[in-house]
Amino acid sequence: MIVAIANQKGGVGKTTTAVNLAAVLASKRKTVLVVDLDPQANATSGLGVEPKEGVSLRGALLATERLDDFIVGTAVDKVNLIPAEVDLAGVEIELARSGDHLDGLRRVLEPVEKSGVFDYVLVDCPPSLGILLSSALSAADAVLVPMQCEYYAMEGLSVVMQLVSRIRRGGANPNLAVDGILMTMYSRTRLADEVVAQVRGHYGPSVYKTVIPRSVRAGEAPSYGLPVVAYAPSTPVAQAYFEAGAEFLQRAKMRQSVSRMTDAALPPVSSTIA
Ligand SMILES: Nc1ncnc2c1ncn2[C@@H]1O[C@H](COP(=O)(O)OP(=O)(O)OP(=O)(O)O)[C@@H](O)[C@H]1O
Ligand SMILES: [Mg+2]
Repeated sequence: MIVAIANQKGGVGKTTTAVNLAAVLASKRKTVLVVDLDPQANATSGLGVEPKEGVSLRGALLATERLDDFIVGTAVDKVNLIPAEVDLAGVEIELARSGDHLDGLRRVLEPVEKSGVFDYVLVDCPPSLGILLSSALSAADAVLVPMQCEYYAMEGLSVVMQLVSRIRRGGANPNLAVDGILMTMYSRTRLADEVVAQVRGHYGPSVYKTVIPRSVRAGEAPSYGLPVVAYAPSTPVAQAYFEAGAEFLQRAKMRQSVSRMTDAALPPVSSTIA
């Protein structure tokens, strides 16, 4: 299952969610591949891997190199990574020129998905509305949208949701599901409570029950090259990510059984050819 972790707004907790969710899933014996799609390479360094020139998805996206050659281990057991580096920044223009806009990432990830080596592929998206984000949404089974508990967050959220519906309706990925919205960097203030209530009021069960609290530990962990769930597992923020991980697995299971149900509910092909 490929899950894009996306929000075009910067600094909302996408990378923190990607690396921590990966570590939590790995702690539950799942094999995980994190794809760092952001030239800032925060997920790469946040998993203890030093960004290296020429080691990124770029070559594979431009159909010049094999993806397998770029998969590396990380500081976290069972979490593998396709690193990023600054070169990835130029890829948008190169992809636009090649005309392979939206299908690029899907094509590249297909052999990885078919190999069945990984239970989950988590794609950490860059904070922009460019081709990299669109190609991640085109390749993904579901999108997880982290958002900060702040006033303008709702507006940003409607922008991602519009993009999701455009990717669905435009035919690039009609089956793209919304895994959920994860509220991050919550601090006990009236404003944060109001924002959470407003988002829940508008998006209902799409919003994760778990809310990730703000904590200096979350900001510290990347400088040690570790997700906070590994760096300080007993802190409230780490505990919240463990809960979010459990909720993520429940949601994934529910989506699978729903899609099996709809498959079963479809009439057999012969009866539809009247
Ligand atoms: N729960 C939290 N409490 C405190 N700080 C946090 C928390 N989550 C993330 N941060 C910090 O906030 C900053 C932004 O988080 P992060 O990098 O995860 O966001 P992002 O959406 O990936 O940003 P970008 O859009 O730049 O890729 C980072 O310095 C991170 O360490
Ligand atoms: Mg990031």
